[in-house]
Amino acid sequence: MSKELNPNTFMEYAKERQDRIEAAEAVIRDDFYLNRMAKVFHPDRQYMKIDQITELEKDTKLYRFVPDPARGTTRCAPFLAGQYLNIYLEIEGMKINRSYSISSSPADARNGFYELTIKYVQDGLVSRYVLDNWKEGDEVELSGPAGNFSYQPLRDAETVICLAGGSGITPFRSLAKAITEGDEDFRLILLYGSRTADQILFKDEFDKLAEDPRIQVIHVLSDEEREGFENGFITVEMIKKYAPADAPYSVFICGPQAMYRFVDREIEKLGLTRKYVRHELFGEIHDASSLPGYPGTDQPEVKITVSIRDMTRTVTGSANDTILQTMEKNGITVPTSCRSGECGFCHSTLVSGKVYVPAEIEGRRLADHKFGGIHPCATFPLSDIEIIVPYDK
Ligand code: FES
Repeated sequence: MSKELNPNTFMEYAKERQDRIEAAEAVIRDDFYLNRMAKVFHPDRQYMKIDQITELEKDTKLYRFVPDPARGTTRCAPFLAGQYLNIYLEIEGMKINRSYSISSSPADARNGFYELTIKYVQDGLVSRYVLDNWKEGDEVELSGPAGNFSYQPLRDAETVICLAGGSGITPFRSLAKAITEGDEDFRLILLYGSRTADQILFKDEFDKLAEDPRIQVIHVLSDEEREGFENGFITVEMIKKYAPADAPYSVFICGPQAMYRFVDREIEKLGLTRKYVRHELFGEIHDASSLPGYPGTDQPEVKITVSIRDMTRTVTGSANDTILQTMEKNGITVPTSCRSGECGFCHSTLVSGKVYVPAEIEGRRLADHKFGGIHPCATFPLSDIEIIVPYDK
């Protein structure tokens, strides 16, 4: 393959392009109409204030954000129902970001606010920090909306079976509201798994949304038997019971990692065309040794040498952590967004060493396998490794 076709060579051009943009005159960078439009639709950062906090259940809160004109944000960037926002934080000197599905609707953004639902996840540094510290009136830094977990009429079927677990309900709240508010038009059948009835999030709201004939909501309780509710886990039989018998349907899934492992096996039995099955990878992958297929390593502590911009550093971390987690724990900030191997934001090059990428989040292209492309957020080191992160935003 010629030098020009090597993606690693391309990354050198990407850096050169970025440097030229930064060096360009302000009139080119900021004043062209298209550049101004791009900033409205795809802002790098949105500076917001917390307008309202609602406690939904123990360790789960709904945060409403409004623009903060004093820091330069005058409106909420528009988004497609199902997309997410990143929140940027500094905790104990570490710069960290996390993505959360937007649980309000596109119409809400036009009316001047976003909502995110944040639930404490076990060992979740960010969720614990947010739940314990954020107060109404606090200033918050968000990304622009991102992600592909939205309804695409050209790709998706007219009926979508939505499988949600716990706080994975959030993008479906946005999608269902978008249907009733006229921004989307498809049939949404929601199978929502909770442990018990009192842990169901947004129950009253979904009861109301289900008055729209295009929306059907079925609650599935794993730890409680109740009349009017399904009992157990979401199985292939349950999906078939509610899915249209004589028309194609898409399946959208959002929930905790343990749910994916179970539900994915069930969905395979449906034999659906691949484009009809969509996942929102929700939350970070961690604890390599607990993942099915983990090959193991005899080197529990590894050295990671990172070249980023003009700096090269070697840090030490656990083989049980992703490369990204080790970098962040050592104060190395790299560009990230989804943190689950999907968006490609953290794309880097493995120069040497052995790594493990869990099959369930392996989203790399053939060229990545050939030229060492990895996503540090979804890759675990098995030995000492050396990587190049293309540039730091
Ligand atoms: S942050 Fe999205 S792939 Fe790593």
